[in-house]
Amino acid sequence: MQTYIEDIAKHEGQPVRIKGWLHTRRSSGKIHFLIVRDGTGFIQAVMSKAAVGDDTFVTADHLGQESAIIVDGNVRADARAPGGYELDVTGLEVVSAAVDYPVTPKEHGVDYLLDRRHLWIRAPRQQAVLRIRHEVIDAVRDFFNSRGFVLADTPIFTPAACEGTTTLFPVSYFEDNTAYLTQSGQLYNEANAMALGRVYCFGPTFRAEKSKTRRHLTEFWMVEPEMAYADLDDVMSLAEGLVVAVVSRVLERRRRELDVLERDTSPLERVQAPFPRISYDEAIARLQGADQAVTWGGDFGGTDETVLSSMFDRPVMVHRYPSAVKAFYMKPDPGRPELSLSVDVLAPEGYGEIIGGGQRLDDYDLLLARIKEHDLPQAAFEWYLDLRRFGSVPHGGFGMGIERVVAWICGLEHIRETIPYPRMIYRIYP
Ligand code: 4AD
Ligand code: MG
Repeated sequence: MQTYIEDIAKHEGQPVRIKGWLHTRRSSGKIHFLIVRDGTGFIQAVMSKAAVGDDTFVTADHLGQESAIIVDGNVRADARAPGGYELDVTGLEVVSAAVDYPVTPKEHGVDYLLDRRHLWIRAPRQQAVLRIRHEVIDAVRDFFNSRGFVLADTPIFTPAACEGTTTLFPVSYFEDNTAYLTQSGQLYNEANAMALGRVYCFGPTFRAEKSKTRRHLTEFWMVEPEMAYADLDDVMSLAEGLVVAVVSRVLERRRRELDVLERDTSPLERVQAPFPRISYDEAIARLQGADQAVTWGGDFGGTDETVLSSMFDRPVMVHRYPSAVKAFYMKPDPGRPELSLSVDVLAPEGYGEIIGGGQRLDDYDLLLARIKEHDLPQAAFEWYLDLRRFGSVPHGGFGMGIERVVAWICGLEHIRETIPYPRMIYRIYP
């Protein structure tokens, strides 16, 4: 009976059939030890000449890594085996033999691996990362769905910028028209929130980021909630709740994968509410106290975020950045109009910004003035201005970058391993 390796414990003492691939093989005289993988896990299959006969034994002796195989065997508990079970092989069928598989368990350079990303994802660590990514996304969806948020999709082809004109990807769109790949679903999310109250969108977003950093992709996935009748504090509470829910879900369900990654989980266990909330003013003072060369009024660089987030044992929320460093749609702080009602959530352990958001500018005249100041094409924003013409209310939300969150939870050096096929300034292959 075909069995998945992840279900193997249910079949102790029974014959099973595993359909998968050969991960590695070693031999000692009359026994082959085959590590077989089937996508759900890895198991050691022990093949003795006596049990399978000469022909099968010789076949196994020449099998290359990643050959597709179907293995029959009996499940035996073994406390020393990584998953707690081994397979005593009774039969082997080679579905497709692989020769000279290029991604071996030895060390390869990262460019070599990225060129072979379509194969690299079969490696145990990469599988663990992608399963954790799946869990993060599942946790995000459950979080919003169980709180009355409605999923409302926003377009990918858009007529104008959301997050600034310098990182737009233009696409030719029929006769002489130019569309841009979306940088964020936020503006449409705001319209959807006025229709449905609390909404979220979740999809790929695009930024022509010239920066070649370990935190930037040109195509990344962002989940964005938006709430009507909400202020900055509501936005911060929602962000805090989401991050706590996602981290605890991964700790609960993906221990095995975190183990494969050798992730020290104690910093993750500390991710509990409440998160510290500090103002931009305080963040500047703290950075200056730590000898960082920052001056009031500037945005934080990656290093500033790293230094700042290292000062806390859990995510920190930095609010009220100067309006000048944030997008056009941010509502000014009524008490200090040079500040915006914005918030960034910085992950601990030096990971930096994982969430950006805030309260939106809900006043028609001020919004129009901002659109003009930012040199944005007013015609493309008429629909957005309509939201301030017809029943405008305080509202806000945020965007959380899935890859940044996965990199942090997995403890990865670089964001490129958090998505099956990373898109970066110098890479769109494979
Ligand atoms: O801070 P950002 O630019 O905010 C927005 O786009 C808002 N419109 C969201 C909203 O309020 N609805 O991006 C949000 C998050 C960042 O905190 C980061 O996690 C991720 O998106 N992000 C990136 N992730 C990978 N590569 C990039 N180039 C990213 N740019 C932003
Ligand atoms: Mg941001």
